[in-house]
Amino acid sequence: MFVPVSKPLIGEIEEQYVGDAIRRKEISGLVGTYLKEFESGFAKFCKVKHAATLNSGTTAIHLAVAALGIGAGDEVLVSTLTNMATFFAVLYQGAVPVPVDSEPETLNIDPALIEAKITSKTKAIIVVHLYGHPADMDPIMEIARRHKLFVIEDAAEAHGARYKDRMVGSIGDIGCFSFYSNKIITTGEGGMVTTNSDELDERMRSIKNLAFGTDNKFMHVAVGFKYQMTNLQAALGAAQLTRIEDIISRKRSLASFYTEAFSQEKDIQTPVEKPYAFNVYWMYNIVLRGALEGKRAAFMEELKKRGVESREDFVPFNQQKIFIDQGIVDPESCPVANRIGANGLYLPSGNDISEEELEYVAKNVVEVAHLLKG
Ligand SMILES: Cc1ncc(COP(=O)(O)O)c(C=O)c1O
Repeated sequence: MFVPVSKPLIGEIEEQYVGDAIRRKEISGLVGTYLKEFESGFAKFCKVKHAATLNSGTTAIHLAVAALGIGAGDEVLVSTLTNMATFFAVLYQGAVPVPVDSEPETLNIDPALIEAKITSKTKAIIVVHLYGHPADMDPIMEIARRHKLFVIEDAAEAHGARYKDRMVGSIGDIGCFSFYSNKIITTGEGGMVTTNSDELDERMRSIKNLAFGTDNKFMHVAVGFKYQMTNLQAALGAAQLTRIEDIISRKRSLASFYTEAFSQEKDIQTPVEKPYAFNVYWMYNIVLRGALEGKRAAFMEELKKRGVESREDFVPFNQQKIFIDQGIVDPESCPVANRIGANGLYLPSGNDISEEELEYVAKNVVEVAHLLKG
């Protein structure tokens, strides 16, 4: 048996929609009904006024940072434990990303640590709803409002997650989503920005497609990017959107199954769902602790031998050698993220994982945990 960490759930609806886009010859990023359908469907799903398609989650975050006018010399507070795309988006603008450490249970930005990092140069906070659990948005929005900072939500891993009764991507100024092949829903590669602001929506739509002029198209109104999603990808996305509720409920039952299976394993930290949260469990992430702390490499190797794929957690920004070498960041500045980054891994969480595969993974995780504790 080999159980991969993820596999997209793609079938007949996707074939139909993409086939239709091809038959109509609507393949680019400008022409096509599926771009509109995917955008309006996704906006409705997120309960947000506007949604605009893009070619990746990375470009979504970059577009958000650019559209907020963030540039050279500005500082942006960013949750340190994330895909480095979140940090790169800030660096593309010549701005300075400032890492903020994580909460030990949710692995998200710790609101209690934000205020101490704010300076006169701080312009925004980027929160990341890691592995599908929403960040604690109320205190974050309160701090942001008091200091007049923008809030960008990196919801690349959290489509459909809720904070209290609000959908992620509808709480801050701009929400950013990814549709890479391992995400909750996919377009192969792709992204989306969401906002309730008419002005930001208009600006982002302009900049994402070369900022063409209105009277004279080729008299550009700004330095634009070419970040378009194609109608072919949007067809895939629109088809996937018909399944999103089903996928989320599969993720949630997968998580309950694993959590129950590991309930006796005190050296395995399992994902939480805080009272304010509706967790979509993008990937089922565990953190090794106690007698298993420091044994992740051996743990993953042993799982691999048994045909169970797993993936280590992100290396936090403050531990990235290229930035430590430049003297930009202190590697010890985020101790919680350092521990999680070194001891966390995620288990097979594919959208079409079978019950038999789930049982196989759970049984082997428990066996490997016991084996390594000796
Ligand atoms: C938290 C987070 N942010 C941003 C991205 C970047 O998205 P993409 O790969 O679509 O560029 C990803 C994932 O890949 C991610 O997990």
